[in-house]
Amino acid sequence: MGRDASAAPPASPAGKTLASARYLAEHLHEAPVLILACVNTEGATAGLTMGASIYPAVQNILLAAGGLGIGSTLTTIHRFRNQQVKDLLGIPREVEPAALIPLGYPLGKFGRPPRKPLGEVAYVDRWGQPPAWSHDRSPLSHEPIR
Ligand SMILES: Cc1cc2nc3c(=O)[nH]c(=O)nc-3n(C[C@H](O)[C@H](O)[C@H](O)COP(=O)(O)O)c2cc1C
Repeated sequence: MGRDASAAPPASPAGKTLASARYLAEHLHEAPVLILACVNTEGATAGLTMGASIYPAVQNILLAAGGLGIGSTLTTIHRFRNQQVKDLLGIPREVEPAALIPLGYPLGKFGRPPRKPLGEVAYVDRWGQPPAWSHDRSPLSHEPIR
């Protein structure tokens, strides 16, 4: 989502994502479980490489939940009130909450989310060069690669 997503028309992809994010923010407290995945910064400034220490674990939680039929999503919405969250939970200064993951059994349909064609998200040899075999393939396609 771009920086000006709040100006996006409601029916556009960015507008739909924004509406979905708003809904999640307003209903987050209804999730039966909220996992707050934290990283120990040991006093260093948190950045991309530090994220690499925690987001794989977050992804594993998302995959495991999906495998059990439990709905989950990665959010960073707590960052808007980060210090309040830390104070509330007694989280030490050197520990940073990296992701807030709501878990719950889905109320509605729970299927595969839409994905961009593979050639738009994966390149070969050079940025922007789609793999020759990526034509019309979704990253979730089960068709064999030829
Ligand atoms: C680092 C990161 C932070 C995110 N934070 C939020 C968030 O705070 N609120 C939200 O609604 N979605 C957030 N998302 C988006 C969702 O986790 C999810 O990826 C998005 O809704 C696409 O859903 P899909 O996987 O079902 O297509 C975040 C995604 C990432 C990668």
